[in-house]
Amino acid sequence: MTHSKQAAREFARQNREQFLTQLKEFVSIPSVSTDPDCKPDMSRAAAWVAAQLKTLGIEKVDILPTTGHPIVYGEWLGAPGKPTVLVYGHYDVQPADPLELWHSAPFSPEVRGENLYGRGASDMKGQVMAVLNALRAVKETSGSFPVNLKFLIEGEEEIGSPSLPKFLEQYRNQLQADFCLNPDSGMIGAEHPTITYGLRGIMTFELRISGPKSDLHSGIYGGVVHNPAVALAELIAGMHDANGRVTLPGFYDDVVPISEAEHADFARLPLDEAYYLAQTGVPALWGEPEYLPDERVGARPTLEVNGLLSGFTGTGFKTVLPAQAMAKLSCRLVPNQNPAKIAAGLRQYLEQHAPPTIRWELQAFGGSPASISDVNQPGVKALSQALEAVWGTRPFFKREGGSVPVVAQMQSLLGIESVITGFGLPDDNLHAPNEKLHLPTWYRGIEAMVEFLFNIGHS
Ligand code: BES
Ligand code: MN
Repeated sequence: MTHSKQAAREFARQNREQFLTQLKEFVSIPSVSTDPDCKPDMSRAAAWVAAQLKTLGIEKVDILPTTGHPIVYGEWLGAPGKPTVLVYGHYDVQPADPLELWHSAPFSPEVRGENLYGRGASDMKGQVMAVLNALRAVKETSGSFPVNLKFLIEGEEEIGSPSLPKFLEQYRNQLQADFCLNPDSGMIGAEHPTITYGLRGIMTFELRISGPKSDLHSGIYGGVVHNPAVALAELIAGMHDANGRVTLPGFYDDVVPISEAEHADFARLPLDEAYYLAQTGVPALWGEPEYLPDERVGARPTLEVNGLLSGFTGTGFKTVLPAQAMAKLSCRLVPNQNPAKIAAGLRQYLEQHAPPTIRWELQAFGGSPASISDVNQPGVKALSQALEAVWGTRPFFKREGGSVPVVAQMQSLLGIESVITGFGLPDDNLHAPNEKLHLPTWYRGIEAMVEFLFNIGHS
């Protein structure tokens, strides 16, 4: 076993160039799930992933339609008696805009220094390919796989995985596995391999404020008409108090307090105030003062404005009193919070606080609950040992602030736990201009996945 493990790791080291060329091909497909214009690219990305699985020797590969974007399913059950690992991934990416802030085109991946730049390089085409490359290295050197494999690579994670619950229910039996390997998270730092055991949930909204029947001259009507942009700003400003707490009715009702033991775990992570200041470039941190920064991100719920739109924002000046204002809002949720209840709380807040001078309309998009994963399952031990074998240091265990809806969905609909990691770094610019993947870390990640597969196969 040690011999085949080493041979596979050696293969992975020898084939880095080829792995990189393939990843660039994947990243060059603009698979933006939220953009209707990208529908053909979504199909192209799904087909690309399916072809990769077939090349790997996965016998059964299907591109299964959903009411949204297709799901790539794969299956190889040639290791009777061995555990079955369900590999999760998503081939969709976030929109690339604002395009003018990219130093190279988002879908023309480019290596600069130690990084590959391109939308989706880190989140998560690189992570999907880390697993597939590890499988390839194992297959090429051992002739087979040490575990049974199933693959679920979806195209809607970046829009909240709306088609997935129905799919999981429909293919419930086929998807049965010992656990899910989910590499859609990231690392604390390049020298700090990380296992994620918690992810926040999410609920997303659009709030539209309207006032006059059309845009008005701000001189002729300013003073008698409540400006919708101002009304929206006032409503948003009231959603937090001076201590960074969300004021929506019932918002914290179901939040599970952080235990003393877990507080001690959070305090041990190398994620202090200085870390967040350095990562973000803000002049000072903000938020609930009684919680550590990593607790505020990992274990406390939040409300954010994701976008604002109103009035004239072009060059120069226009004295307009806009007829409308719009905000995109989202709440990050922690375990035990119910997305629908949070939506009801926001609606109630608006009913209580919206002034009679404007009309409002709230649209709730999809939501998904938070998850906590079992850290005592055998897959976590296998992963921990694999990461330690490559990095020479024990991994950190972390609750992430991001959301990966499939994790809670698999728990509730399939009874399957996830083992969650990833080889992206905090400065990878996820969802932002100049997303990148740190290649030396990615290559280590591929070798860690080789170790992991052998650990599972021999457990
Ligand atoms: N991979 C991310 C989530 C993530 C990022 C986990 C960093 C851990 C560290 C994922 O693809 C993502 O961004 N999800 C969206 C989901 C949303 C659109 C429903 C998110 O969290 O905003
Ligand atoms: Mn992702």
